Amino acid sequence: MGLVRHKWYRFILCVTVIALFVCYLKLQTLSNSKVVGSMSEHTLEYFLNKGTIKRKDAADIEWYHAVNSKSKLIEALRGSAQMIEADVLLRGQDPKEPIMAHPPDNDSDITLQDWLKVVVKSGKGIKLDFKSLAAVSQSMILLEEVRDQLQGPVWINADVLPGPGGKATPLDPHVFLQEVAQRSENDVLSLGWTTGWDVDVDNRGYSWEMVHQMEELCRSLKQPVTFPVRAALIPVSFPQFQWLLERSDRYSLTVWTGKDDVLNVEDLLPYRQNFNKTRIYYDLLESQFKQFKGLPGYS
Ligand SMILES: *[C@@H]1O[C@H](CO)[C@@H](O)[C@H](O)[C@H]1NC(C)=O
Ligand SMILES: *[C@@H]1O[C@H](CO)[C@@H](O)[C@H](O)[C@H]1NC(C)=O
Repeated sequence: MGLVRHKWYRFILCVTVIALFVCYLKLQTLSNSKVVGSMSEHTLEYFLNKGTIKRKDAADIEWYHAVNSKSKLIEALRGSAQMIEADVLLRGQDPKEPIMAHPPDNDSDITLQDWLKVVVKSGKGIKLDFKSLAAVSQSMILLEEVRDQLQGPVWINADVLPGPGGKATPLDPHVFLQEVAQRSENDVLSLGWTTGWDVDVDNRGYSWEMVHQMEELCRSLKQPVTFPVRAALIPVSFPQFQWLLERSDRYSLTVWTGKDDVLNVEDLLPYRQNFNKTRIYYDLLESQFKQFKGLPGYS
């Protein structure tokens, strides 16, 4: 009798454990698919719901740059741009806290903490650009403190690999992702290459090795990833970026331009025409963008 009861007990225990495990797996896949499904285009979805864009076209997102001072912040919040972009540094002298500044500046009239306090209420999206690793960890903590109030999308940007003509030292990708990835499950990671562009020289584009390295880095990430790419260098790199975008639905491009780069906007048309419009953001100069939108092949 005792032995039979013992066997039954073991059987029931086993079944319960297996059932719980199956339930757990189901829940895991459910939550994963929900996350990936909504995240791949969560920026566009957000602004569409808010009514500031009328269709799911990443080219309709406007950017406001270098919002690194109180006055710029006021201006950006009044303007129509959906996304505001700013640079984060650790202040050069005490108190060494994250501030809004672009090198070579090492001080600012606004800290990241105060900047976030204002921005969270605005409903705009933010793109924080890190030029060094020093400020990343503290910044992610500050971001975490305002998570509950933040409505708009958050993009976390850094150049993490050497790219065409790049002279700056990229941030160590593994250290950067370690600091950022766990605290930014709902953010867009904007991961780029260092670049350079010179007039009068043959500026090379992005090589196969560069896109392969990037893909290897991003393959196992859970977040949507956008690759900031320099407009003047991408016309010759179409096959490379086509390959890269085909690797995952989570990937998109953000085309940006150096303000002195010579760019023929017609050369960007293959990107506009051959990819889903949800997958390419254009952060160009106003004059360039106006010209681009006026091209017959644009729409
Ligand atoms: C910050 O920049 C100022 C002005 O360029 C410079 O004089 C100062 O030495 C810098 N401070 C640090 C700690 O780098
Ligand atoms: C573009 O992608 C979106 C979102 O994944 C999808 O709903 C839409 O059908 C795609 N459009 C085209 C033209 O493939």
